[in-house]
Order: sequence, then C-alpha cells, then structure tokens
Amino acid sequence: MDVQGGESKVGELRRISEEVEACSKCPLHLTRKRAVPGEGNPNAEVMLIGEAPGEVEDETGRPFVGAAGKLLNSLLQDIGVDRSSLYITNVVKCRPPNNRDPTDEEINACKPYLIRQIAVVRPRRIVTLGRHSTRVILGLGGLRVSEISRVRGRVFRVTIAGVEVEVYPTYHPAAALYNPSLKGVLKEDLARAIRAGGSGPASILDYLNGG
Ligand code: URA
Ligand code: SF4
Repeated sequence: MDVQGGESKVGELRRISEEVEACSKCPLHLTRKRAVPGEGNPNAEVMLIGEAPGEVEDETGRPFVGAAGKLLNSLLQDIGVDRSSLYITNVVKCRPPNNRDPTDEEINACKPYLIRQIAVVRPRRIVTLGRHSTRVILGLGGLRVSEISRVRGRVFRVTIAGVEVEVYPTYHPAAALYNPSLKGVLKEDLARAIRAGGSGPASILDYLNGG
C-alpha cells in the first residue's frame, strides 16, 4: 500500500467515524453516551466484527475495551497478534440499552457504515464474532445463516462492497466469558483466520462460495 493510499484511507475512515459520532439514524442515538465507530489499522488484512458496544465501550468510544475486550486481548496476546495490526468494529455502533440484542431496524440503519468501512479497509479476511455479526456479514455476501454452530469453523468466500473476503465465523468473546470451555476454540479460530495464508493446512478448511 503506498503512502498516498494509506493517507486517504485514514481520511475516509475518520470521515466515517465523524458521521457515526453525529448519527441519529436509529433510536440508539438517544441512549448512547458515545458512539463507537471502530479502530485499528487502515490497511488491516484482518477485520474483527463484533455485535454492538457494551457499557465500557459506550463510556470510552472504543470497541472491545470491557470484559469481552479484555478476553479478546488476552487471546490475541496468546497467539502473538498485535491488536493494532487489525481493524476492529461492530455491526451496530451505539450501545443497545442494557446490552439487549440490536433490532433488525437498528442493524439495517447502521449497516451502511460497516459496508463503507469494509470498502475502505479492503480486508482479506473478516472474523465475525457471534451470531449477529455472522448473520449480517454472510447476509451481505448473499448467504443465509440459521445457526452459528452450523457455520463456525468453516470459511466462506464472499464479496462485500466489491471486496472479496474470506469470512471466518466464530463465537463472541462474551460467550467464552460465560462458557470458558469455548475459549480454546475461539483462540484457534482467531489464530487460523489471522494466520491464514501462513502455516495452517488449507485442506482442513471448508471453503464455500457465496453469492
Ligand atoms: N461486545 C461487542 O460485540 N463489541 C464490543 O465492542 C464490545 C463488546
Ligand atoms: Fe446511527 Fe448506528 Fe448509532 Fe443507530 S447505532 S444511531 S444507525 S451510528
């Protein structure tokens, strides 16, 4: 990536963040303290996409900085990955009250920001954390998902905003907080996605072509 490209990506991401911070396209703007646009490397090969900000994210304006974020950070550290090498965001940029699930209306209102972030960063791989993120991202690629357990551990090749990406669905870190037996799988899934093209045996991957 040349310097010119890098700089314009930074500018475009900043512009998206500013729009998110001023956004009132869905009712979540009424209850948020701060919007959480996302952060990270504008040239990231891997984008992590969560569901929605929680309490600490709402207070700080940064993604994955609460309990789930601490677990995510420690798993990344375990596999030797620098968090700042990734781009990290959420499907919905403002906190749903009491951390309830985002509604379809809220997801649809917010989706254009996510699509634009993907179009700017142009990641090679996307890790979807949890069922909402998985459903939305594979949906953008024209695939319907019934259950996360049917898709986690597989790799889906889809095109989103003209960008060809491999999607690695996995569990949400919050799920692994409540069910620590999921930590190992989550860590393996993260390692496989982030190191793909490197050492992992490609033959174990189950590639499916999306729309
Ligand atoms: N959970 C998410 O899905 N995203 C965050 O940013 C924090 C917790
Ligand atoms: Fe806007 Fe998304 Fe926040 Fe809703 S959740 S107000 S669409 S930025």
